[in-house]
Amino acid sequence: MKKILIIGGSTHSKSINRTFAKQAGSLITDIERIELDLNDFEMPIYSEDRENDGGIPDQAQRFLKIIQDADGIILSLAEHNGSYTSAFKNILDWTSRQERNLWSQKPILLLATSPGKGGAKFVLKSAEDYFPHLGADIIAAYSLPSFYDNFSAEKGITNTSLKTEFDKVIDTFSNSIKS
Ligand SMILES: Cc1cc2nc3c(=O)[nH]c(=O)nc-3n(C[C@H](O)[C@H](O)[C@H](O)COP(=O)(O)O)c2cc1C
Repeated sequence: MKKILIIGGSTHSKSINRTFAKQAGSLITDIERIELDLNDFEMPIYSEDRENDGGIPDQAQRFLKIIQDADGIILSLAEHNGSYTSAFKNILDWTSRQERNLWSQKPILLLATSPGKGGAKFVLKSAEDYFPHLGADIIAAYSLPSFYDNFSAEKGITNTSLKTEFDKVIDTFSNSIKS
């Protein structure tokens, strides 16, 4: 069975992106789902001096190994001031120092959501543009706006047109990891 990582790009205990990533994963059949909690990869803020003095922290090495062992990734990015959360960016920075090709050519479904109408589109676009430079094979990307109006824990996406679009994205990713 294919091993798919489920990641919310946030350390928020009630992260809507973790919820969204998990719901996306639940729609794909016959896969092993491995949930990552970014709180398990907390490290000092990246600096070149810290790297020169102490090398790459174990947490970043562990993060890379988990990516390398997976068959695909569902990542939903939280947006803070138009960009990644500090926690996610810190993991990205440290891990990219260990291995520039950090996403290891794994198929990635990129998601993003926020309570606002923008649906965390800035951070999604940023990842779509840059992750290929870090070895990402982005299969599809999707932003869900106004999370609390358009999502329920029981039903997932409740808005019909948003759901139709989302189902297509899920199908595309599902086909790509199983082919
Ligand atoms: C410091 C900070 C900055 C934020 N900046 C944005 C933003 O730029 N765009 C946005 O849509 N939401 C922004 N928000 C609201 C987040 O989208 C909201 O907190 C959301 O729950 C974050 O996702 P998470 O629950 O998965 O952590 C911000 C929240 C915080 C705490």
